[in-house]
Amino acid sequence: MLDKSRPIVVDLLADDFHERAHTIYDELRAQSPVAFAELPEQPGRGFWMITGYTASVAALRDNRLANNPRALLSPEQLAARARARIPEPPNTMLLSDPPEHTRLRRAAQQAFTPRSVTALRPTVIRHAERLLDAAEKAARNGDGTVDLLHTYAYPLSLTVLGEILGFPEAWHPGLHDLAVRAATASTPLSGPDPALRELLEGYTRDLLLLKKESPGDDLVSRLAHPESGRDALSDAELMAMIGLLVAAGFETSASLIAGATLALLTHPAQWAALRDDPELAAPTVEETMRYWGPVESATMRLAVEPLVLGDRHIERGDRVLVFPAAANRDPAHITDPHRFDIHREPQPHLGFSGGIHNCMGAALARTEVAVALTTLTARWPELRTAVDPAELRWRPGMGLRGLRRLPVRP
Ligand code: HEM
Repeated sequence: MLDKSRPIVVDLLADDFHERAHTIYDELRAQSPVAFAELPEQPGRGFWMITGYTASVAALRDNRLANNPRALLSPEQLAARARARIPEPPNTMLLSDPPEHTRLRRAAQQAFTPRSVTALRPTVIRHAERLLDAAEKAARNGDGTVDLLHTYAYPLSLTVLGEILGFPEAWHPGLHDLAVRAATASTPLSGPDPALRELLEGYTRDLLLLKKESPGDDLVSRLAHPESGRDALSDAELMAMIGLLVAAGFETSASLIAGATLALLTHPAQWAALRDDPELAAPTVEETMRYWGPVESATMRLAVEPLVLGDRHIERGDRVLVFPAAANRDPAHITDPHRFDIHREPQPHLGFSGGIHNCMGAALARTEVAVALTTLTARWPELRTAVDPAELRWRPGMGLRGLRRLPVRP
């Protein structure tokens, strides 16, 4: 059952997918935590869909599953493609395998170590306070409500990433809009939307040019002007790196801030607990990552050798897609998985993935979201949603989970 001869058809691209996702995962996992699935609109293009925790950990750690979509091409095939002038986008660390992955990750990771993130904390607090000042004013001058997602969560995450990468504040509205559109249009099954990819490339090219000409104290300047003895990346690699950091580095954190706020507001005792004890911020972030983590499904992996996952035989050339969102609610891994509870004993989760591609920005995201929540509970202790929470909807797009809006009343 649910093997390659009888794929299960799952409508992962449905508009209301996120409203139904956990029912789908639960049914599928109960039949088989590793199942062969296909989309209704892509018959014959199936992939292994992993919904169980143990199988997900195994898949994410298995080096026979490659992230580079060209991993199965031989050197001769790659040379033939080059001769035919088939454009090959430079690999990002996310779409590469060792040793290339190791080299690319090493170039940027310094900016995301716990030490670098701790140094950034006062800046995050300052921006959170400033944005809430502005939101408070807007609520007072308007109908008494604000959209917390678009006036606080997005601007905060964007501003922090802007500090790290060094992009100008004037770009924030454009990048904000781009991220929202890309989160819906690009999925691990459809790939990036070409028009949006072009738009992103415009920003990354401009940023690289800017920092080559007038370097500042930021990551892009350091990458564009490496110290002697450090590997220099090519311009194409630099652009791909900046593109990945912009694509991965603020939409996710913004969605987590909004998701955590909604989860807390719909569990008022837990909102009150966090408000009264800011030390609960870290467990709140972990529980929201488990319960409503912004990355629903990981990057597609490609089997370069046969392997076994669960009790399934994966063949060379098969595609494998891990769903951290499903794994994080596997009842074999966690008790009462559909209950949101910030007082839980901390449990490992896969919201930041696992294996060598585990999220490079995890420490930053954790700090940023914890600061966002404690600043919010301190400033607006009686916050509530401004509409019935049942009316709030998730965006379509199976790769990422994010609210469309979050109207609140301070
Ligand atoms: C709550 C916020 C975030 C979540 C939930 C998240 C989640 C993830 C996940 C699940 C992956 C791995 C995907 C896979 O295995 O296919 C990943 C990779 C990555 N993330 Fe994040 N991320 C977040 C924030 C950030 C931030 C703030 C940055 C940097 C500014 C960042 C940079 C990266 C990079 C560079 C990778 C690729 C790592 C590699 O391939 O070695 N992420 N993230």
